[in-house]
Amino acid sequence: MKVLLINGSPRVDGCTYTALREVANELEKENIETEIFHVGNKPIRGCIGCGACYKTGSGKCIFNDDTVNIGLEKAKEADAFVFGSPVHYASASGLITSFLDRFFYAGDGFQYKPGAAVVSCRRSGSTATFEQLNKYFTISNMPVVSSQYWNAVHGNTPEEVKQDLEGMQTMRTLGKNMAWLLKSIKAGKEAGISLPEKEERVGTNFIR
Ligand SMILES: Cc1cc2nc3c(=O)[nH]c(=O)nc-3n(C[C@H](O)[C@H](O)[C@H](O)COP(=O)(O)O)c2cc1C
Repeated sequence: MKVLLINGSPRVDGCTYTALREVANELEKENIETEIFHVGNKPIRGCIGCGACYKTGSGKCIFNDDTVNIGLEKAKEADAFVFGSPVHYASASGLITSFLDRFFYAGDGFQYKPGAAVVSCRRSGSTATFEQLNKYFTISNMPVVSSQYWNAVHGNTPEEVKQDLEGMQTMRTLGKNMAWLLKSIKAGKEAGISLPEKEERVGTNFIR
């Protein structure tokens, strides 16, 4: 079993990484493989709604000049996801927002795989950002993994984040909870529990 943790900060080893690392450590203790993937600090373009991903059915974005398609490739092998973002103006970073809009619009490998969001902030805006990230899971039939508190750490530097003892404990609990859910899903599969039957999708654009 493998968990893909996506670091949506422009800083490769900053506060968001510190939080994700704490989650990954717990997963690894439970013999679950992890990979922390950095979206990078180069521009990531937003979705232009061209629909090329749907038309081709490739499961890829037509734009190949940033990290989105690399992430989509890695997602195929993952059994669960953790998305991490610093809080930028009480929202997720522009980088992770552009990344996830295209990742979810083009990709199809997430359905029924557990997901969790993790945020890092200096002071405020954590729950708004947490809520923003959780919305990707809840439109994708993904079980959301929670912890003992909303998944946030506080600090401007990794050293400050490590002093946020409650935040770090929240991350460890999240890792343990995700490991437990992954093992439960695996046991369920082995016992013959199949995925829920899906209805053909109805799409109404508030016309009538
Ligand atoms: C452009 C920008 C906007 C920010 N906005 C907020 C904010 O609204 N609230 C907050 O508490 N911290 C804010 N911060 C601070 C970061 O959220 C905080 O330092 C975070 O832990 C950095 O994580 P990182 O090292 O992974 O990038 C902002 C930082 C930047 C660069």
